[in-house]
Formats: sequence, C-alpha cells, structure tokens
Amino acid sequence: MAYPQHIGPRHTAVVGLQWGDEGKGKVVDLLARRHDVIVRYNGGANAGHTVVVGDQRYALHLIPSGIFYGEKTCVIGNGVVIDPETLVDEIDTLRSRGIEIGENLRISDRAHVVMPYHKARDEALEALLARSRDRTGADRAIGTTKRGIGPAYADKTSRATALRMADLIDPRRLRRRIEAVSPIQSAILAALGAEHIIDTEELLQRFTALGDRLAPHVTDTTYLLHDEIAAGRSLLFEGANASLLDVDHGTYPYVTSSNCSTLGIPAGTGLPLTHVHEVVGIMKAYSTRVGAGPFPTEQDNPIGDRIRDRGREYGTTTGRPRRCGWLDLVAVRYSAMICGVTTLACMLLDVMSGFDEVQLCTHYRLPDGTLTDRFIPDAERLGRVVPVCETLPGWAEETTKIRNRADLPPNARGYLARIEEILGLPIGMISVGPERSQTLTRV
Ligand code: GDP
Ligand code: IMO
Ligand code: MG
Repeated sequence: MAYPQHIGPRHTAVVGLQWGDEGKGKVVDLLARRHDVIVRYNGGANAGHTVVVGDQRYALHLIPSGIFYGEKTCVIGNGVVIDPETLVDEIDTLRSRGIEIGENLRISDRAHVVMPYHKARDEALEALLARSRDRTGADRAIGTTKRGIGPAYADKTSRATALRMADLIDPRRLRRRIEAVSPIQSAILAALGAEHIIDTEELLQRFTALGDRLAPHVTDTTYLLHDEIAAGRSLLFEGANASLLDVDHGTYPYVTSSNCSTLGIPAGTGLPLTHVHEVVGIMKAYSTRVGAGPFPTEQDNPIGDRIRDRGREYGTTTGRPRRCGWLDLVAVRYSAMICGVTTLACMLLDVMSGFDEVQLCTHYRLPDGTLTDRFIPDAERLGRVVPVCETLPGWAEETTKIRNRADLPPNARGYLARIEEILGLPIGMISVGPERSQTLTRV
C-alpha cells in the first residue's frame, strides 16, 4: 500500500543519540535557516549548546539555538524546567553581544520553575549519595550538573510543591505559592542535612522581579505552536541532553529527569505525534559521557586522553572533563530506533585523525558469554557487558579544511560507510570543526 505523501512544511527534530554534547547546538543553528520556529521541549540549564557564528562562540543553556536568526521564533516549551535567574542572565548576555531578544522568544506558562532550593537539594542529595557505596565500592552519586533539574522535575510530578511560569509572573499567585511551599521545601532540605535557609521574603522579592522581566515572553505555547503550524510554518525541535540520558529509556538511574529522546516531544510541547517528519540523530565520531554511569567503550587510557585533548572534551555547563571512548554502535542503534531517526549527523570527525587504528563497537558480550547487539538500558546490567569491537585502519590526515565527503581520506570514508552499514541509516551531515562552514552535507 502506498502511503499518502506529507503535504506542507516539514517539521524536524534534532536529538542526541549518546550521552550528550554531540554537537546539537551547531546542527540546530544550521538547520534553523530552513525552519521558522525552534522549540526546546525538555531539560533545563543542565544543557549547554555551543554555537559558533563567525569569530563568536555562544553557550546556550535555556534559549533555543535558533536565536541567532532574529526573524525566527524561539519557543521554550512546557516540558522544560526553567531557572529564571539563568534565563535572565542568558538573555542579558546575548543582548549585550548584539543578539536581538524580544517577541522572538516565547516561554510556556506551564513550564516549571527551578528555584534556589532545588539547586540546594540537588547538591545535598549528591553529597549524601557520594558518601554511600554500592556493591562494587563505587560511590552512588549521579554526577549531576547541580542545576536543580532532578528536584524540579520531582516537584512537578509531586504536584503540590511545584511552581510554574504562570505562578512566577503573577505576584499574588507567586506569594501564595511560595508561602505554601517554603515550609515543605525547608523541611526537605533540613532532612537532607543541607545548610540552605529559605528566606521567604527575600525569595519573593527576587523572584517577583524575575517574573516581571520574563512576563512579556510568557504565553500558552501549545496554542502558539498549533497556530504556527496552521499558518504553514515549519518547526525545528531541539532536544536537550540525549537519548541515553532519557529518564525512561536511558542508562537508569544514571540519567537526567526528562524524556530527552524524541519521545519527549509531544508531552513537552502539546503537539500530537504526527508533527515530526524528519529526525536528525546527532552522534560524535566517538563517545563521551560526563558524570557517573556505565560506558562500555570508555578508554580510560592514552586513547581517551588523546580524544579529550583533540576534541576539547570539557563540559559546556560545568567545565568537567568528559570521559571518552570508541563509538558504541549498539548504543547509537538503540537510540536511533527509539527516536525514529531518519538521517544521521556525524560530528567531530576531525578529532579522529592520527590514530593508526580505530574501533567500532558492534556487540556486547554478556557475563554468560553470549553476544548481543541489543542495548541494555539498565545501569547495573550494562555495567557488566564487555564491548566487542571491529578494528578499522585509521587515517593521519587532518580533515578540518575538507568540505566534500569525496575529499576525505579513504579510511575516514571507509569508517563512515561502515557506520552507515551497521546502523542502516544514511549520514547526511559530517562535521569537521565547530564553525558553520566546517560542515559536509550530502546534496
Ligand atoms: P551539544 O550539547 O550537543 O550542543 O554540544 P556541546 O556544545 O556541549 O559540545 C560540542 C562541542 O564540540 C562544542 O564545543 C562545539 O563547538 C564543538 N563542535 C561541534 N562540532 C564540532 C566538530 O565537528 N569538530 C570539533 N572539533 N568541534 C565541534
Ligand atoms: P547537553 O544538552 C551532557 C548528565 C549529567 C549527569 C546526568 C544527570 O549539553 O547535551 P542532571 O543535572 O541532568 O540531573 O544530571 O546527566 N547531563 C548531561 N551530560 N550533556 C548534557 O546536556 C547533559 N545534561 C545532563 O552530566 O551525568
Ligand atoms: Mg552540551
């Protein structure tokens, strides 16, 4: 049976297929050119998306990476948790660098607010976990960004202790909410041994002012997005964090607290399932991870050190060194499957020059000796697999100045072709540097 062709503007999602920092910011910035509305649907200021425009480098945490095109609308959807202080800072910093932010930034009135006590709770929980040991003697901390993400989403699902943007921008509602939740938040902090004291009046003053600043941007983004679609405009969804950090489908419990895969789009925007036509899955030419949790192909050795040095693998949000290793295609294939990826972007290929040999992980060996090509989204079981890799010849040539796939060193082309073959998906974009021009696209 032939399916009807999609008619009208196409909507695209950009999603990370590994543990974050795949280069989503760069790809969103590039694809924003041919979309009208750029939408964040999950996560919060734990994200750090880098965009390089000319000689300027920007690190975005909450504002969508389409902000550099003044005429596009950038939307922070209901699924995002917003730290108003970080957001106001981000707006001010961008404005001071000449980026226009006005009506082009829209924020959902239903997005939840990250409060200072969420950050204090995040920190206190991590400190407690760091003091306790698991079976293997490792500490139990998740290695969060300490941006209050987990506690804010926990309050969202607990309901009665949460605040939303609609509360923040209405001083009377804000007072009622803060007075109601402060004693409960204080009790939680005290139980965790946190030193943070909640001064209700001070909090009210500070957050009323932040609400005032953000109010002009706050709206019902669900209707806004439906109206944009009805008006024939095309949407670009910007995933934050990444599929293997998805709270339901990632390496639980070493994940973040939102649905970062494309599965989070409908819930995080208010749009039905039918509004994503293309899914661009972003992967590095190798793997990295920040924070704790299983990482089968990790190279805690000179190979990993070389990748970290060449790729400048230090966190955009926290500055922490990233753990580095070979490309894990078992993991990427799984992420591509749950996200419905239609095309791949292979980032940071330039980092891979100079290895005599490179490896691709195609299977895992389980403790009972059997081989599997299926990912295991469970930290304890994934921590026990041994990666099984194919070895391919490396290439010495630098690739940062190459602009056509055909001009890449033959072994780099062989590496990419083998990835496409194993994943059964085309690599539509190859990136050989952080700049817009350092991008090879298939025409
Ligand atoms: P995101 O969170 O997925 O947006 O990624 P991050 O911005 O946290 O990390 C990606 C880093 O790699 C940033 O510093 C980018 O500027 C940089 N980057 C992106 N693509 C490339 C590339 O192809 N080569 C190199 N060397 N750096 C890149
Ligand atoms: P972008 O969008 C890399 C990781 C943290 C930690 C875990 C939980 O820049 O790719 P959290 O603060 O969310 O409770 O931390 O998730 N993490 C990320 N790692 N890139 C990110 O975002 C991340 N967002 C969360 O390091 O291991
Ligand atoms: Mg990042």
